Amino acid sequence: MPAISGSAPGKAILFGEHAVVYARPAIAIPVTRVYAKAIITPLPRAKPGSILVDAPDIDLNARLSELEPDHPFNVLFSNLLAELGVSSSPAINLRIKSTIPIAAGLGSGAAISIAIVRAFSMFLGHPLPDDRVSNLAFLTEKFYHGTPSGIDNTVITYAQPIYFIREQPFEKLNVSHPFTLIIADSGIKSPTAETVGNVRQWWLADQERYEHLFDQIAALVKQARVCIESGETDDLGSLMLENHSILQKVGVSSPTLDQLVSAAMAAGALGAKLSGGGRGGNIICLVKKQNAAQVEAALKADGAVNTISTTVP
Ligand code: PMV
Repeated sequence: MPAISGSAPGKAILFGEHAVVYARPAIAIPVTRVYAKAIITPLPRAKPGSILVDAPDIDLNARLSELEPDHPFNVLFSNLLAELGVSSSPAINLRIKSTIPIAAGLGSGAAISIAIVRAFSMFLGHPLPDDRVSNLAFLTEKFYHGTPSGIDNTVITYAQPIYFIREQPFEKLNVSHPFTLIIADSGIKSPTAETVGNVRQWWLADQERYEHLFDQIAALVKQARVCIESGETDDLGSLMLENHSILQKVGVSSPTLDQLVSAAMAAGALGAKLSGGGRGGNIICLVKKQNAAQVEAALKADGAVNTISTTVP
């Protein structure tokens, strides 16, 4: 039997992170320059049920049965086998490659889950439709993050710009004029579960203030949607700066992220903000295509460990 593979892109949140956990809208885009890929090959001589995981990019080479029962791959496989209605897996080698930086707000965990679900369900001859693929990745995120909004698994599964409100069907965004973004990695690892947990504590302590901040973010997201769909994309820049300044008040920025935003603006970006969970991870900048190289160089000179330039759609 030949090798079967599945893949999924990275993602970035353009507007609305954190507020989206509290039922406000958010906008996210796929980042196809980075991706996760799962490749499954049968192991005809190994014991049925044996799954050998070989994932050099996340420093893992082990049998699934040797990992903790609550390891993300065990959580994913137990939900996946139940979804497919099978009690155990044939013996396989599962190779995972990922170019998506980990814990940097680019959705690496969800993309790896989605790539595995696609490859494995295809391998068993029952490729799952996108809604079920997305839901399986969501269940794994839920196990780890407690209260994920579902935006990561949705934008990564459907690989298109989306307008998203939790627990509602997502809407595809009609991008009428392409626009260019630069995503710059601060190099600081910041697990989303931590910042989401902190925001939850602060929200519990002062719901009035936080609900107000989330409402302000929601208003920006709605304006951004109008800009994207009407082609007034230059106006997104100031909305991004406003969103960043509200995220500072929410408490999820950091001096490093603020400094990168300033460096991008000084180099000619139209707008910039942190993207994702915050504290570390990435910032995202809107640029004119002709300024992209200049902004990327300035961000690197200011300490960004990596930059990705991407055009939407
Ligand atoms: O995975 P990240 O770091 O891009 O963060 C996801 C966005 C949050 O709004 C912070 C959390 C969520 O579940 O929506």
